Amino acid sequence: MDKDRVFFFDTTLRDGEQSPGCSMYMAEKLRMARQLEILGVDVIEAGFAVASDGDFTSVEQIARVVRGPRIASLARAKSEDIITAARALEHAGRSRIHIFLASSDIHLEYKLKISREQALEQADQSVRLARSYVDDVEFSPEDATRTDPDFLCKIVQVAVDAGATVINLPDTVGYTVPLEYAELFRMLIERVRDIDKVMLSCHCHNDLGMGVANSLAAIEAGARQVECTINGIGERAGNSALEEIAAAMHVRHDRLPYRHALALNQLYPTSQLLSEIIGFKPSPNKAVVGSNAFSHEAGIHQHGVLSNPLCYEIMTPALVGVPANRMVLGKHSGRHALGHRLEELGFTLDVHEMEVAYSRFIEVADRKKSVYDQDLIAIVHMHLRQVPAAEQRSASTIASSQA
Ligand code: KIV
Ligand code: ZN
Repeated sequence: MDKDRVFFFDTTLRDGEQSPGCSMYMAEKLRMARQLEILGVDVIEAGFAVASDGDFTSVEQIARVVRGPRIASLARAKSEDIITAARALEHAGRSRIHIFLASSDIHLEYKLKISREQALEQADQSVRLARSYVDDVEFSPEDATRTDPDFLCKIVQVAVDAGATVINLPDTVGYTVPLEYAELFRMLIERVRDIDKVMLSCHCHNDLGMGVANSLAAIEAGARQVECTINGIGERAGNSALEEIAAAMHVRHDRLPYRHALALNQLYPTSQLLSEIIGFKPSPNKAVVGSNAFSHEAGIHQHGVLSNPLCYEIMTPALVGVPANRMVLGKHSGRHALGHRLEELGFTLDVHEMEVAYSRFIEVADRKKSVYDQDLIAIVHMHLRQVPAAEQRSASTIASSQA
């Protein structure tokens, strides 16, 4: 395996969807999953199959339709959850069951009301059961960052011995700090037998605003899967934002020399699609995809940027798919302007698709004064064929992190 390759595990449809105001209908989840495929994520956590009929159907449908990324379902360390996840994933091209079981004393005592010994037994049984259905099983000791380090090593050892292929250390409550989180990974690498045979993964919440910093520290310490969400949505203060991690790896490739399969110019279109679906945008000052991320207000900054954008910009808007041309489209805009903006958003349409897009665009423009990027992305997703991921990525963006 390529030791510098980082795998992006997107949990927008599971951990992200769990947060207030972010729930999505089945058809919306499918649209989002298709866009995540175009973006080039490696794994899509499509839901928590046992949680509800809706979640089951979403995981099942996404597993049937989305072929590029591996499709994962979350499961507690219980037979019912694992069997239900396996059923939902039956038609996936590549699947993963993601088992979580709390390992911190506070969770064991007050939430699960089980002893450490019982937790070890449950971890062993559940990973073995999941492995009897799928060949890829992720194990997450929930609240890993507040777990007694010796017990963490023990439970991870049990999961590895039982056949887990990925070990994820969730910072469930957003409590850790970068150096401490990195040490946790180094400790496992040193103390757990055969840990080199599994992939290590990080999963950070943003309660102290350090989700992305913690994720990057974990990667530097040996994690090769990073779990994150679009726009950083998720429980409470959210999860690590995918677009921030990807942009950091590109801009600071000198310090973060990793490769990945993301098409960076799809970051903004993906962010826009999510905003359109859940009905709210990231805050204007949100890094990478916020509406102010590339605007310059202060005169001295404007002057500098006009002389040389590098004075105040560490990446170009185009890198992440933000259209350079912020002209608002409306019913007087022609096919040429529409085609140009769609191209900027990463969609290459043939003549027939362009006609379909244009007539839908006019319908929307008749109803709304201005047609925004998220409207255009919705038109492409709802009315046109799925554009193959390969077409969407320019060679330069696929290899962006190698630049
Ligand atoms: O934050 C968390 O602990 C989780 C687990 C289910 C992985 O989301
Ligand atoms: Zn989480």
